[in-house]
Amino acid sequence: MSNYTAKPGLEGVVASDTAIAAVEQTGLSYRGYNIEDLANNCHFEEVAHLLIFGELPDAGQLKEFNALLADLRPLSGELVAAIRSIPKDAPMMDVLRTGLSMAGHFDPVKGDDASDLRKRSVWLMAMAGAIVSARYRMLEGGEPVEPKVGLSHAAQILYQAQGVEPSAQAQKLLDLTLILYAEHEFNASTFTTRVIASTMSDMVSSCVGAVGALKGPLHGGANEAAMAMLSQFENADQASTWVNDQLANKQKVMGFGHRVYKNGDHRASILEDEMRKLAEEKGKTKWVDIYDAIKNPMVTKAKPIYPNVDYPCGLTYFLLDLPLDLYTPLFVCSRITGWCAHFIEQSENNRIYRPLSRYSGPDKRPVVAIDKR
Ligand SMILES: CC(C)(COP(=O)(O)OP(=O)(O)OC[C@H]1O[C@@H](n2cnc3c(N)ncnc32)[C@H](O)[C@@H]1OP(=O)(O)O)[C@@H](O)C(=O)NCCC(=O)NCCS
Repeated sequence: MSNYTAKPGLEGVVASDTAIAAVEQTGLSYRGYNIEDLANNCHFEEVAHLLIFGELPDAGQLKEFNALLADLRPLSGELVAAIRSIPKDAPMMDVLRTGLSMAGHFDPVKGDDASDLRKRSVWLMAMAGAIVSARYRMLEGGEPVEPKVGLSHAAQILYQAQGVEPSAQAQKLLDLTLILYAEHEFNASTFTTRVIASTMSDMVSSCVGAVGALKGPLHGGANEAAMAMLSQFENADQASTWVNDQLANKQKVMGFGHRVYKNGDHRASILEDEMRKLAEEKGKTKWVDIYDAIKNPMVTKAKPIYPNVDYPCGLTYFLLDLPLDLYTPLFVCSRITGWCAHFIEQSENNRIYRPLSRYSGPDKRPVVAIDKR
């Protein structure tokens, strides 16, 4: 295969068509709707419906969708016991990966036709939230909390995690981040989903693999990594010295850069405005000063590198007093809807993914008998 040119990271490779999302320099859209429009006019459940069923729901469809989600949310006793048996120091993303895999043994949806796959998607969306909340609650020494009728999906996750209904502000902002995180075409975790789907494996396996891909700090783990970075500084001057040093030493700054967006990530701008208001309302503008001290040199240097959505998201979750190791699992609670939509799209028009590699190992050589090696 030495005549082939390798594409490290598959940069610039168009691997397939998709009708689910378009990531363009001018912005992001889900099934033709601009992300700004969705963020301003919809709740996360409507966006999840759009991704999974192909269209925004009307009032009746939304009611049905919410009823199905509520129906599918309770965790089985076996699943609760399995989550409880995981060592307490296991990262939340690992618990979520195991939890989804374990849940797969109790999948209430039988069959694999189009409507089964859509129902299974709603069930996986419900499971992700319920597993994260139950684990968090257990780590805090409590018992899993029963879902509360009438709460939004975002509010339900926080309510079941913390045992109290979140403030209207926390509900609104978590809902917004779930909308922004829901879908982003062929990112690493979604591509993982599609590769697994392409072997005609099952949807649960696809999502379990995708959780593993999302966990890394170059992907979804960046929201935690960005906040861990910000929280080491006491003031903007410290942050400024640190970032200049990072840049001089060609080190990465978490929450910045993107393979596709070269002029900035629209999701980051939408969320940053809300994060600034939140910090002001909470009297915590010191964090915005630190945030800007990192951001300014990044975006004004000769080759600017702009924040991606994980940068403002980390600080938004911090200002909402959410624990650091919930940040990436909350990303899963949203992105799982995009993964499932891609699983369905891949299954409907499938060809197995099987790229080539260019061999760079030793020349051909004979096996030497073991006593002579
Ligand atoms: C997202 C990311 C993985 C994209 O990677 P990529 O497309 O392979 O881009 P590269 O790593 O090749 O970067 C291209 C150039 O920008 C620089 N760069 C990219 N992201 C950077 C960052 N976060 N901090 C500092 N420099 C960065 C690289 O050093 C490289 O510079 P060079 O051309 O002088 O060598 C990368 O930007 C990154 O690691 N960001 C931090 C993690 C993160 O926030 N991930 C969430 C993504 S939504």
